[in-house]
Amino acid sequence: MRYLIGNWKSFNTITQTTLWLEEFAKTYSKPRTNIKMIVCAPFTNLAEANRLIGGLHLPIEIAAQDVSPFPEGKHTGEITAQMLSELTGHCLIGHSERRREFGESSKTVGQKAKLLLENSLVPIVCLDTPYLDEQIKELLDLQLPLQSCIFVYEPLAAIGTGKAADAASVEIVASKISFLTESVCPILYGGSVTEENIALFLDKQHIDGVLVGTDSLSVPSFVKLMHAFI
Ligand code: PGA
Repeated sequence: MRYLIGNWKSFNTITQTTLWLEEFAKTYSKPRTNIKMIVCAPFTNLAEANRLIGGLHLPIEIAAQDVSPFPEGKHTGEITAQMLSELTGHCLIGHSERRREFGESSKTVGQKAKLLLENSLVPIVCLDTPYLDEQIKELLDLQLPLQSCIFVYEPLAAIGTGKAADAASVEIVASKISFLTESVCPILYGGSVTEENIALFLDKQHIDGVLVGTDSLSVPSFVKLMHAFI
């Protein structure tokens, strides 16, 4: 299975999400190949987005962008994996923006992955080279079923900069992730993916899809990315 995953970050209110999905419904035409489409949205949008996706029969899933590292309990403001399990099947974790702005460590990301898996959600784990080995070791030490995870290589210099990484160097890192995880899970690339460069990444043996930030906010861009899968 190949993946097109959007990451809306802290963009889109419920109203804007409704407009996005309605526009997507009007613009959608079947891609040339079977792909799984997921959009990671703010928590506030998940329930309404699910209602619309069901009503409009859209072939897209809405997912979360983060989860609490704690199970249910006295943790004011936290959204648990159990809560998410009634709303989605996937959750992004370990994005470099969370590492940078919220001091998230590989240990915390490991805890999040564990709770997600215990609640039957697929963790979409973001990785960059400075902590790639450490993060995968953490997941292996926790004896998590990596075949139930998705990994995304997201080099910091490529995120939101308009300067995507070179596809050949991404393939080298993707093959390393594949080796470390015994080739049991999908590996995606993220960082300034556009309709112009997506084919370079999809062409590579170890890259099973992309995670797209900026270009997932506009429906026409997202639809063009979807049709780039052949
Ligand atoms: P970008 O974001 O596509 O805007 O570079 C990717 C991401 O942060 O996941």
